[in-house]
Amino acid sequence: MIFLNLGNQPFANEYSVKRKQKEKKYQLLIDFNNKNKIVSIKKKFLSKEIFKNDYPYRSSISKTMIKSFYDLSVMIKKKIKKKKILEIGCNDGVFLRNFKKNEVLGIEPCGNIANLCKKKNISVISKYWTTKLSKQINKKYGKFNIIFSANTITHIKDYDEVFSAINNVLDENGILIIQDPSLLELLKKNAYDQFYNEHIYVFSYLSLSSILKKHNLEIYHLENIDVHGGSIRYYIKKSTAKFKVNRSVIKQKKIEIKNGIHKLATYKKFKIKVEKSKKKLIKIFKNLKVKNKTVIGYGATAKAVTVLNYCKIDHNYINYFLDTTPEKQNKYMPGVKIYVKKYVKLKTNNIDYVFLGAWNFKKEIFSKEKNFLDQKGKFITHVPFPKIISS
Ligand code: TMP
Repeated sequence: MIFLNLGNQPFANEYSVKRKQKEKKYQLLIDFNNKNKIVSIKKKFLSKEIFKNDYPYRSSISKTMIKSFYDLSVMIKKKIKKKKILEIGCNDGVFLRNFKKNEVLGIEPCGNIANLCKKKNISVISKYWTTKLSKQINKKYGKFNIIFSANTITHIKDYDEVFSAINNVLDENGILIIQDPSLLELLKKNAYDQFYNEHIYVFSYLSLSSILKKHNLEIYHLENIDVHGGSIRYYIKKSTAKFKVNRSVIKQKKIEIKNGIHKLATYKKFKIKVEKSKKKLIKIFKNLKVKNKTVIGYGATAKAVTVLNYCKIDHNYINYFLDTTPEKQNKYMPGVKIYVKKYVKLKTNNIDYVFLGAWNFKKEIFSKEKNFLDQKGKFITHVPFPKIISS
């Protein structure tokens, strides 16, 4: 059942060189399946339509993510002696670079990003994750005792193929660790911008566990982590493996049920909150325009593409965006066509307000821009509700 319409949207990571460049668009409708409790976008694109050789997202673009992956690697090194690690969607190698070169293999379909791994001598296969690839890998490398995947599995339309392919290369006592945005956190934060063409699914414990069951896989431990606006890191085993199911799993199940993750009524309420949020954000921007304030954006995220296109806040309201990603700079943001400039430290002499596109890195950004805040510079955020932030 469709519960939310986020309007006509462009592909979130397709930056254009010219403002007038034509773009592919689609209707961003969000669906709740009452049977299997899966929340997904209605129009599901294939990986090959999105993840190409000019993909502009680098996982190591923030200190927060570098530290989060490093901390996980330290934990793995402490607990597991002999490591054979496969990462699905390894991006620029931000996680794998923490291990010895002979312990890891990465899969990264975007050629330009896979090349960043090759430059660091990290073994990488630049292909999509499919059953065929898993069989080839099994033949050449055998099974793996750790398979990791961050912010990737929810980007792939056919999750049944994803997990059956994983089963082909996961050791009988191996651990599959996946992390993705948490549906419960999305609802709590009113973070409707987690929906875009790449985020085909936003999993909850409830929906993911029912998918895994079909593949004889089981979540035995999980951690709520605060990256990407609130994610869950799931630790998964083959059902036949004899690890104990941890209390964290039961706790998450209880919390999700208490918050009505399994009920359509929850999503109907969410829709009303999203529409209120839209009205409020538009009001803030219109007000600043009337007052002739200089407004820019910070962090040209895929999430910001959803918000700005949904609220129709374009280059008439936001002068430009700043972003540290070279692949996004000197180009226009999809749909709203706001120019993206190379990052420079914020100064109050030429900027009044800054829209926080990368709200998920608020802590890191606010510490970087402490001077701007101290000098009465202001940020605008829409999470958990639209407001102006000043120090
Ligand atoms: P994400 O929220 O999808 O991970 O994207 C974060 C974007 O924000 C990415 O394009 C890099 C950008 N960014 C900055 O420009 N400056 C920063 O300090 C941080 C943390 C991110």
